[in-house]
Amino acid sequence: MSKGHHGAIKTVYALILAVIITGAIVGVATWYFTRPAKANVLEIYHWWTSGGEKAAITALVGVYESKYPDVGVIQSPVSGGAGYVMKALMKSLVLAGEAPDAFQLHAGYEMKPYVDGGYLDPINDLWSGQGWETVFPTVVKDMVKFGGNYYAVPVNIHRVNVVWYNKAVLDAHGISANITTWDAFFAACDKLVAEGMPKPIALGDQGKWAATHVLEQIIASEGIGFYQDFINGKVTSATNTTLRDALTKFSKYLSYVNDNHAALTWDGATALVINGKAAFNIMGDWANGEFLVANKVYGVDYGTFAVPGTEKMYGLCIDCFEHPKGVKHPENSLNWLQVVGSKEGQDAFNPLKGSISARTDADTTKYGPYQQAAIADFKKVTYMYPSVVHGSGMPEAFTAKLDDIMSAFVDNKDVSAAATSLTKAVTDASADFTKVWTLH
Ligand code: GAL
Repeated sequence: MSKGHHGAIKTVYALILAVIITGAIVGVATWYFTRPAKANVLEIYHWWTSGGEKAAITALVGVYESKYPDVGVIQSPVSGGAGYVMKALMKSLVLAGEAPDAFQLHAGYEMKPYVDGGYLDPINDLWSGQGWETVFPTVVKDMVKFGGNYYAVPVNIHRVNVVWYNKAVLDAHGISANITTWDAFFAACDKLVAEGMPKPIALGDQGKWAATHVLEQIIASEGIGFYQDFINGKVTSATNTTLRDALTKFSKYLSYVNDNHAALTWDGATALVINGKAAFNIMGDWANGEFLVANKVYGVDYGTFAVPGTEKMYGLCIDCFEHPKGVKHPENSLNWLQVVGSKEGQDAFNPLKGSISARTDADTTKYGPYQQAAIADFKKVTYMYPSVVHGSGMPEAFTAKLDDIMSAFVDNKDVSAAATSLTKAVTDASADFTKVWTLH
């Protein structure tokens, strides 16, 4: 071997050594800076990363930390509204036996694969020990119970059938917010278009779900009976005139939305309304959290009305946490759930989140004017319906296909094609419709 060759080998060894040493230094440094400050930790996952969502979860974690100061809370937020990124990630973590101590999960069908697979522990003792049976409404309790056992703790009740509007925009165009029909809603949009706002409705359907969210509310506006049939898997004909009518209305709705909707997040769309670049946006009342962090005042800067045709309805989206089987810190997990279900925890979280407490004994003085109105509506509406987009209403075998079907519709506006795909997806999932909803 030549001298030059030995030199080259030496250089390679030196390089390898340098890489190993650098790796070790980086590793130690990373560990040092990311290590939990406390030896005893609670690890939770959620997708609350927008301004309002972050403020709310910070407040809830704050309540936990004040009670358990020795426990370090590791939050692992996964951005992507409605959990469109986190849900898949969580499935793989749980299947790999790496479930965190608790994770955000919607009440209802979304829990079912975890319950059926034996990945969650029943938490009946926690429910009875905390006296929750008497303070949570039946509609909420029913959605977290499977086979008579409780498997989750609800932290809120979000309303999904809400239109958010910019008050200054409506006032400037002499538009009344007393809108209760689709005709009146589209007439308001036409007026705005004619008077110089070509895209009066904000949509942010990055991740697809926000468009489906709108269709879901239009389906509800067709009547509670139709919504009930739909979620019970009974709408199986592509020629169903009510389904086609809902899709036709949705197509019209889409003609008023911003061109960049597919690139925008839900909170980006809310910001368009906050800033007066759009007049309206249909979104769940987590949007209220965005108005609050932007220091906007309900009734002064912005307002809401029920999605036309759904005034007597409250579309439900319920966030929960649960106790996965075999978690690393079982005691911390249960204590977290206790805080999640507590009056104190809920009254810290929900005023910032936009939702109302899932408990009937909330301290309503802690809630702002939008939520005061929502609390009153929750008591007086005639019908409640579980959201499909937000996990509760229909089996995963169906919902897994829903966003792609609707995303194709958003592009091609083909009513027949969407009606065919939707009803086929319902039929294909028929074996999974295990719950019969009675909404009226
Ligand atoms: C929903 C969730 C809400 C809200 C929203 C947007 O699915 O239940 O809490 O965060 O997504 O991310």
